[in-house]
Amino acid sequence: MYLIDIAMLHELFRPKPSVVHLETENDTSMNNYELSCINGPNLALRLVQPEDAEYIHTLRSDIQYNAHLSAVQGTAGNQRKWIVDYKAREEVASEFYYVIERHDGVRCGVVRLYDITQDSFTWGSWILDHNKPRKAALESAYLLYDTAFTYLQLQKAVFQVRRENNRTLAFHQRFGAIQTHIDAKDIYFTYSREQFENSKVNFKLLLEFPDIETNATS
Ligand SMILES: CC(C)(COP(=O)(O)OP(=O)(O)OC[C@H]1O[C@@H](n2cnc3c(N)ncnc32)[C@H](O)[C@@H]1OP(=O)(O)O)[C@@H](O)C(=O)NCCC(=O)NCCS
Repeated sequence: MYLIDIAMLHELFRPKPSVVHLETENDTSMNNYELSCINGPNLALRLVQPEDAEYIHTLRSDIQYNAHLSAVQGTAGNQRKWIVDYKAREEVASEFYYVIERHDGVRCGVVRLYDITQDSFTWGSWILDHNKPRKAALESAYLLYDTAFTYLQLQKAVFQVRRENNRTLAFHQRFGAIQTHIDAKDIYFTYSREQFENSKVNFKLLLEFPDIETNATS
């Protein structure tokens, strides 16, 4: 039997970017965004750096993880150059590529928020490796959605998953994503800020008390 203070949990799980200055919608000086490190109970999303190139190249070259991702091109050096080029997109807040890290500093995956428009975004390039703690998928998705909906004030996620990627499809269905259409290669989903807001407290509970049996999306 658990006695839970919901207000306390809310504060506990509020992601804490190191600096966040959101300007008005019309402001184009995107340098004001600084979402460099988003902290959760067991994980942090930390913006990728060129020094992560080797790790990412190894991860994306691993057949355990890359079956449903676009094929890795080139060397770790090419990956490094890709990160350097990506930093220009980060600067204008059109893309945020995060390394998923445990609080002891061990990297355990990556996730990318991209194609950011006035109200929508896509996410993907999501991998968790063998260093992931329990509920890492739930926590990294939660932190990514909270960043997009709460801090970037976006309204909906639109994303696609390969038709044969059963594990990832199951994750998104369980999370409450709504299937919109399907083509020969992919299944397309949407997930709204309203849905996230409605499920947030349950997600927080589940992350703080992983042994609790709760349906996080109800
Ligand atoms: C996609 C990927 C990151 C998902 O991670 P995962 O660990 O396989 O995800 P799972 O669905 O097994 O969920 C992990 C945990 O969260 C829990 N969880 C997931 N969704 C949940 C929900 N809605 N409510 C409650 N718990 C949930 C699971 O029970 C599990 O808990 P456990 O760690 O205590 O066993 C991972 O499978 C991966 O790296 N795949 C290869 C790359 C890939 O295909 N990426 C996707 C490209 S779009």
